[in-house]
Amino acid sequence: MEKMWAGRTAGAVNSIADDFNSSIHIDSVMYKQDIKGSMAHAAMLSAKGIISKEDSDLIISALGDILSDIDSGRLEINPEAEDIHMFIESVLTERIGDVGKRLHTSRSRNDQVALDTRLYMRDKISEIKRLLLDLLDAVVFVAEGHKNDIMPGYTHLQRAQPITFAHHLLAYAEMLKRDIGRLCDAGARMNYSPLGACALAGTTYPISRAMTAEALGFDGYCQNSIDAVSDRDYCVELLSAFSLIMTHLSRFSEEIILWSSWEFSFVELDDAFTTGSSIMPQKKNSDMAELVRGKCGRVYGDLIGTLTMLKGLPLAYNKDMQEDKESLFDATETVARCLEVFAPMVRTMKVKSENMYAAANRGFINATDLADYLTKHGMPFRTAYKTVGEIVSRCIKENTVLDSLPLEVYKTYSELFDEDLYEEISLKTCVGKRISEGSTGPCSVDTQIENTKNYIKQMKEV
Ligand code: ARG
Repeated sequence: MEKMWAGRTAGAVNSIADDFNSSIHIDSVMYKQDIKGSMAHAAMLSAKGIISKEDSDLIISALGDILSDIDSGRLEINPEAEDIHMFIESVLTERIGDVGKRLHTSRSRNDQVALDTRLYMRDKISEIKRLLLDLLDAVVFVAEGHKNDIMPGYTHLQRAQPITFAHHLLAYAEMLKRDIGRLCDAGARMNYSPLGACALAGTTYPISRAMTAEALGFDGYCQNSIDAVSDRDYCVELLSAFSLIMTHLSRFSEEIILWSSWEFSFVELDDAFTTGSSIMPQKKNSDMAELVRGKCGRVYGDLIGTLTMLKGLPLAYNKDMQEDKESLFDATETVARCLEVFAPMVRTMKVKSENMYAAANRGFINATDLADYLTKHGMPFRTAYKTVGEIVSRCIKENTVLDSLPLEVYKTYSELFDEDLYEEISLKTCVGKRISEGSTGPCSVDTQIENTKNYIKQMKEV
């Protein structure tokens, strides 16, 4: 293909170098954004008297045709083209001749690619926010169905204190809300138009950057033309927001994998989200959760790759920056696909509350509450802690639990113990009496569910 930039050189690039240089395999997904940006640019050029109204109208209508031809599959994107910007401009010129060549007045691919990427990611951010809301919705749905189901809460993966399954799930709801918040923040910061920065120095034509910025739905335009074409902070911000989403999904995945094991048997994933083994007939594997956990590493790699690509780059545009889209788009699709499978997987999982309860009943997880019992009857906490530790140790030796130890035995440790201790350390009381804000107690869990539902409703409206 003849290079549009042939002139200074003959444009005859070695074919291996040509393939190496090309980015069409990755940037062709931005064809819509590229065309939209070009339409706004053409309209502005004519509004400012830089090209004629007729030329601008012709360019805009031809671009509209190209858009619908690509959408419908009538026009195939040529994989031999250098990039999507060159491809669309070359089709335009093929179709309308010299008028098409006027489009690139006061524009460079440097501001064009920066524009397209921002527009493309703006749409993708909305898609990922929607997917996060779907997962949030699934989490609240399961939480609401298991408000009173008691399970052991863990620290160090050792049974620690009784909590409800709803409370545990709602911890993920908070993470997901912050994830959405981060995308909103990054989206707002990047919503400034680089168009009109041209190669780096701006232009001698009387363009209006404000006009194209407004037409394309930006909150304004980038203030410094050199920064406008050099800045890839938004890629890093988004990649870091994506990385945190994957961190959360990987932790959730890990728990689902553990809970699905025979050893825990707290949940059973729906068959539709599991696979069997090719050799072991008894297997039901949580492959989806494992894959999500695995893909987390890939997204971190995209983040670190982009940071490393940018490190030490001189201003303004350098071809290194073409690599940004490889990482950014890979992470975007990975996160989207993970969220897509995660929400229905969570929504349909079967919760085995009886096993959770049994596990909670066996691990001395009411020991803190027994210590609190003594403290409330006047014993200093540290002394109570030590006394209960000794009682637990005795129970372990005698293969019994706190709830079954006779009162006479309790009395040998402290006269403060009385019949009501059993009620006080029942799992139901331990959970039910947690009254602090954000705790596992029913009042707090109800508030969390209510707040999250309101949040989802409000976010779906915007
Ligand atoms: N394909 C290029 C990229 O993605 C577009 C910008 C090219 N600019 C240039 N000066 N060669 O970065």
